[in-house]
Amino acid sequence: MMLRRTPAASTTRLCGTGDLERGEARRFVADGRPVCLVRCADDTWRAVADTCSHEDFSLAEGEVDAEACEIECDKHGSLFSLLTGEALTMPATRPIAVYEVVVDGDDVSVVLA
Ligand code: FES
Repeated sequence: MMLRRTPAASTTRLCGTGDLERGEARRFVADGRPVCLVRCADDTWRAVADTCSHEDFSLAEGEVDAEACEIECDKHGSLFSLLTGEALTMPATRPIAVYEVVVDGDDVSVVLA
């Protein structure tokens, strides 16, 4: 019988809960991967891959709709859901990766599989 192992996920602390305002996005690099961390209006935290799926551009530079939990790419205006990673408007058509965020006390961390 063969045992299948799933790769271990790594958890990386990105910042403290007081470091981002609601509606703010910020770029981090965790395990060599660019991560866009966003604090939404309901005080939930979302992390997505910080590279637009249309071209190689940082989403953290875009505008956040904190109520809808969406971010607009600053280069050509595609809108992405921070909940699902789905590209909601053109020209991007492919989704971006969504990562789990863990808030433990004052620490905000991302889990990368
Ligand atoms: S680079 Fe993001 S929409 Fe074109």
